[in-house]
Amino acid sequence: MPYARVNGNMLFYRESGEGPAAIFLHGFPLDHSLWLDQLKGLAHVRHCIAPDLRGFGRSDPTVDAVLTMEMLADDVAGLLAALGIEHADVIGLSMGGYVTLALWELRPDMVRSLALIDTRAGADGPEAQAARDAMIDRILDGGRQALADEMVHGLLGRAPSRRAQARLRSMIEGTRYETLVASLEGMRDRKDRTAVLPTISVPTLVCGGEDDALIPPDRIRELAAAIPGARVTIVPRSGHLPVIESPDVVNQALIELFEGRKVVWWR
Ligand code: MLT
Repeated sequence: MPYARVNGNMLFYRESGEGPAAIFLHGFPLDHSLWLDQLKGLAHVRHCIAPDLRGFGRSDPTVDAVLTMEMLADDVAGLLAALGIEHADVIGLSMGGYVTLALWELRPDMVRSLALIDTRAGADGPEAQAARDAMIDRILDGGRQALADEMVHGLLGRAPSRRAQARLRSMIEGTRYETLVASLEGMRDRKDRTAVLPTISVPTLVCGGEDDALIPPDRIRELAAAIPGARVTIVPRSGHLPVIESPDVVNQALIELFEGRKVVWWR
């Protein structure tokens, strides 16, 4: 299984397919396996690369007290460089979207197109910051299982499949405690990148789940409206994780983004 040394850490990644590169950045508290349906369904159009971000999944454990979005974005740039890749389509879900926007700011030259899935550009307000601190305490007191119980019910859409529930639970329960804490601190203190949105000059897809309670469709449409020429896909009956809840709809939207085709979008 492939690893690359980036910024002093071994980063795990899974890849599939051939052609132009596309890199897939997972959310919190997940790992590369979030993207298994994309690695399978997009291998005929892209060289797909799904890393475990620093501290997550099978990547090296981290001793960083805070995993900042900038640090994670710099790792992504480093991973692409280590693989000899100059440009990639960059697809980020939720926290992966925060990292994607940080990467656009840091290395726009590396980005061929963007897909921002169930994510946002703004920073946490005081209430959201307090909720991050409370979540850290709950995790340290109650463990990952309690976090998984909370998230399986809060993140997925109406009547989620058993398969989606199981995959989400495996990812959450497989994430190290120090990574949970450091990434929550990194998200709590992340920068507001709203001003970056009008600077996006590559083809962009903004996608969200119809039933996402965390980032509802109206927020997704607002995010898209701030990015010149962005396409929007709202995935029916999906919550925060359409890439595992309705992978075929997401894969089709990504193919249309990659091919630059004009299509009838789900709205
Ligand atoms: C994620 O899915 O990455 C997180 O829920 C994002 C967040 O908590 O802001």
